[in-house]
Amino acid sequence: MRIFPLFFILLLFFHKTPAQNKMNTFVANLMSKMTVDEKIGQLNLVTPGGAVTGSVVSTDVDNKIRNGQVGGLFGITGPDKIRQAQDIAVKNSRLKIPLIFGLDVIHGHRTIFPIPLGLSCSWDTAMIRKSAEIAASEATADGLNWVFSPMVDIARDPRWGRIAEGSGEDPFLGSQIAKVMVQGYQGKDFSGNKNALACVKHFALYGAAEGGRDYNTTDMSRISMHEYFLPPYKAAIDAGVGSVMSSFNEVDGVPATANKYLLTDVLRKQWGFKGLVVSDYTSVSEMIAHGIGDLQRVSAEALKAGLDMDMVSEGFLNTLKKSLREGKVTRAQIDSACKKVLEAKYKLGLFDDPYKYCSTERFNNEIFTEENRKAAREFATHSFVLLKNQNNVLPLKTSGTVAVIGPLADSKFNMLGTWSVSGDHSKSVTVLEGMKNAGAANILFAKGANLTDDTALAKRVNAFNKQVDIDSRSPDEMLKEALDIASKSDVVVAVVGEGADMTGEASSMSNISLQPSQQRLLQELVKTGKPVVMVLFNGRPMTIPWEDKNVNAILSVWFPGTEGGNAIADVLFGKYNPSGKLTTSFPINTGQIPAHYNRKNTGRPFDGNVNAAKFKSNYLDVSNDPLYPFGYGLSYTKFNYGDIKLSKTSLKGNETLTATVTLTNSGSFDGEEVMQLYITDPVATVTRSLKDLKGFKKVALKAGESREVSFKITPDLLKFFNSNLKYDWESGEFFIHIGTNSRDLKSAKINWVK
Ligand code: NOJ
Repeated sequence: MRIFPLFFILLLFFHKTPAQNKMNTFVANLMSKMTVDEKIGQLNLVTPGGAVTGSVVSTDVDNKIRNGQVGGLFGITGPDKIRQAQDIAVKNSRLKIPLIFGLDVIHGHRTIFPIPLGLSCSWDTAMIRKSAEIAASEATADGLNWVFSPMVDIARDPRWGRIAEGSGEDPFLGSQIAKVMVQGYQGKDFSGNKNALACVKHFALYGAAEGGRDYNTTDMSRISMHEYFLPPYKAAIDAGVGSVMSSFNEVDGVPATANKYLLTDVLRKQWGFKGLVVSDYTSVSEMIAHGIGDLQRVSAEALKAGLDMDMVSEGFLNTLKKSLREGKVTRAQIDSACKKVLEAKYKLGLFDDPYKYCSTERFNNEIFTEENRKAAREFATHSFVLLKNQNNVLPLKTSGTVAVIGPLADSKFNMLGTWSVSGDHSKSVTVLEGMKNAGAANILFAKGANLTDDTALAKRVNAFNKQVDIDSRSPDEMLKEALDIASKSDVVVAVVGEGADMTGEASSMSNISLQPSQQRLLQELVKTGKPVVMVLFNGRPMTIPWEDKNVNAILSVWFPGTEGGNAIADVLFGKYNPSGKLTTSFPINTGQIPAHYNRKNTGRPFDGNVNAAKFKSNYLDVSNDPLYPFGYGLSYTKFNYGDIKLSKTSLKGNETLTATVTLTNSGSFDGEEVMQLYITDPVATVTRSLKDLKGFKKVALKAGESREVSFKITPDLLKFFNSNLKYDWESGEFFIHIGTNSRDLKSAKINWVK
């Protein structure tokens, strides 16, 4: 009686599907023929050029492929080029093991979608899944089979340039997005040739860099790590992501790339990850500068910690054999890493057909299609966030004259945003073009100002291409032209903000306001008395309190991608009613950072009453609250929330609570509203956030329409990491909040016991 259940449990545990058995046999058989050098060769990921994000570029790549010293390539595209490289591997290397081909496919591939931070503001997981699916389809038509995405680093500091690449500050939303992106890239399986292996990155905590300075140290408690930063990576693992990229930063004093706690204890043991772990670009050799040792030592440490593949450092290639001889690593550790690389190739079907992703026909017909551009336009409209709309200045009238003014109004180079390595800037639609295409009003244009007049900054931003174009005319001449056309117009659309490479990797900024050149332009435009609509290009939340007070409307469009100009015109002229909501808080000034919504009460909470503020947790010179909170975003219509109706107020154990509110569109436009559910756990054995997002629904309502919307709440949503890092919930009172953003909420109290 006792033995039988145990037997079945063991059987279930060790049971492998026939497909897994087949893969295991295939890989074991292949590995039995491999020399140690060939095994180590599989762990080497190199780039012959292209997307270079460090000082090293791999050399002598063809020969290395021939000698079995390369497992994969990244940074090249096109079925012909990829076929050539694959030819060397499968025709000229001893064991004919195919290469895997990766690239940074971050927000679209050739057709570029809004930057991920923008996409996240749609809160539309079906749409985001679709965006990943299209990106994978274009990437695989371009010869690739491995995408270095999704980037799921939680970021609370907008000074960090790479905040643009992720989904913002919240772990719940970040997890939902991580999951659908993996599903979109990888599909159900790799039986066809339109899905690619996804790579969740950067594991882990890269977004928590001190001071927002890229590559900087991170340091936090294990509770914070598990509660706020790790969930999106885990969600990607649970969704079946095939690979993980380790991050540049250190965690607990050990660089993530050699961090056993992260790569083995959490990733493999706690989360059960079975796929491939690759380093970031030279993050193995960068551990020399971190102070962990020489190349041999850091490579051995990385392998032992659980890293399988070394991107560009060639530390594995050049030192692991020596370490094996000296007993510093084991054959089993090398074998285990090699197995992961071979399994990834096997799953992609590369052993059956190494040219599976090299279809010239697909390359000619399935990239940058009309359909994909249409999707890019739709995705962009859904990503914009309306931050202000005084006196309903938007949508614009479809008659009269509009002055489109600003350094970003007609700048193809600045439409796509960071990490759009395969995008073609010349094909992107600018705001001016989009406004003209709309054919709705008479459009005048002036540049008005430079993106910045700071030549040193311009030079740094222009490292790859000319995004900041300092005009040959003087700032005064440009301003005069702008004021002239403003005076002839009914409304001014001021297109201002950041250049595309002012965010992204290695683009941290200590000052996240508009550049002085643009501030001056805006101030002068406001003085004309014409209504001013500010269209803000931004890869991060920016500090814009003056603009918030003085311009009439603000639409944040992030970096909107290939079809950005058309999408902006769609929203400005009211063809699409904006529905985006912020996924990161906009601080009032940089001193307020971090300004994330899920902060804690402290022992001396400040309730906003400045007359009783002494010895309370606050600043003397600025409020604790951000300018625009997490979840915030306006619509052309107005949504009203009724009070929360609860199915019960006292619950026990695993019961389910239903919380319902009536949402009414009381304005005159049809629209969509992202309804948000937050929970507060006011008393627990460890301190909890003021509130945590635990659900959301995007609801479309016609003007005048009302609908009852319900959220199901289970005890799972009450769970948190306690001091023993146990994920569980505790009995007590809870507050349920439902509303339009993290600040403006209806609330109700419940009691829930175990
Ligand atoms: C460095 C970046 O951190 C990472 O996100 C990217 O995937 C690699 N470079 C490869 O380009």
